[in-house]
Amino acid sequence: MKLNFIHLCFNLVRKMNLPRSPIIWSRILFYWVVVKLSFFLKTINLRLPPLNTLVFVTLRCNKACSFCHYIDGLNCENSDEYEMNLDTFTRILNSRKICSVGRICFYGGEPLLNSDIFKMIDLAKSRNYITSIFTNGLLLEKYKEKILEGNVDFITISYYQEDIDNIFNIVKELSPHVAINISYMVSEGRLDELPVVFENCNLMGVGMITIENYLENDHHSEIPLCDHSEQFYSMKNELTMKYSGHYLIRWSELASDWKKNRKISCTHFWDTRVINAKGELLPCCHYPLSEFDDGDGFLNTDKMRFLRKSFKDGRPNRLCENCHFLQNSELWFKF
Ligand SMILES: C[S@@+](CC[C@H](N)C(=O)[O-])C[C@H]1O[C@@H](n2cnc3c(N)ncnc32)[C@H](O)[C@@H]1O
Ligand code: SF4
Repeated sequence: MKLNFIHLCFNLVRKMNLPRSPIIWSRILFYWVVVKLSFFLKTINLRLPPLNTLVFVTLRCNKACSFCHYIDGLNCENSDEYEMNLDTFTRILNSRKICSVGRICFYGGEPLLNSDIFKMIDLAKSRNYITSIFTNGLLLEKYKEKILEGNVDFITISYYQEDIDNIFNIVKELSPHVAINISYMVSEGRLDELPVVFENCNLMGVGMITIENYLENDHHSEIPLCDHSEQFYSMKNELTMKYSGHYLIRWSELASDWKKNRKISCTHFWDTRVINAKGELLPCCHYPLSEFDDGDGFLNTDKMRFLRKSFKDGRPNRLCENCHFLQNSELWFKF
């Protein structure tokens, strides 16, 4: 089983165009150790930016999923202000706001709608970043040639049942050349779709699948899967047995009652930067877009300090209360 896991990891990594320089990898290692230490010690102020950067390149989207975290902010009147372009991205890369090595994930909205997206990816690659995009997949066919040039190391494609016929062939075509992770958002109402999702991933030949849980928003009636769902656990065992030899499988935590005294943890405030075209910083990618913080404080804005402190002290805070990642995990604090 372990050998097979290593083989699948190797298969995924060999499709990436990773930096080759030992100097870059030494720097990545150094930053990684600093990030881990800061998280372990729960430092309120960071001295160095984290390795992982999420760049919001657009507030536009070619879909309007009612469950979407960002549905209130997408395609809004002032979405132009949030459209990243090459100049702004270059300025951000040259600033101290993000780490000079590590991973950059291009995020949105739908990042492939941004007309500078591949210029930004090429620039990031030329500076030895590991690059990734998070997409609904609808524009993959259009950008097939660009993707095959090899500057996108990793693509996460969200699996939406209504679009599977549109993306199936292109994902299958890209899969032998590009590291592809399919992200499927499960909820109580979507559990029955899981076997079809897994089989389609197998047929498309992807390298990885991630099962995320639905995070509640005010516009949607779905219910997150809870950790007492026996049906889920039996399905999880069955699917893991059947497909773990074909691709990597990552299951996210299930929701449990926020009010229970659970151990919680989140590394985002220590290990990830989320930044938009205005240079504003967010605590994490699940944050409502309306709550962008101002970036003047560099790594240590008041909101980030508040969030880190609330975790250090084990105090609940309003800003995180809908997040299932915080619940049911093994780490450091109890509320
Ligand atoms: C916000 S989208 C941005 C990238 C792209 N438009 C897409 O759909 O993949 C990133 C991921 O967040 C997921 N997502 C959006 N709203 C969610 C929610 N309320 N709960 C869980 N995941 C959510 C989407 O399904 C998608 O996989
Ligand atoms: S989940 Fe992705 S595709 Fe759906 S509306 Fe949100 S940003 Fe667009």
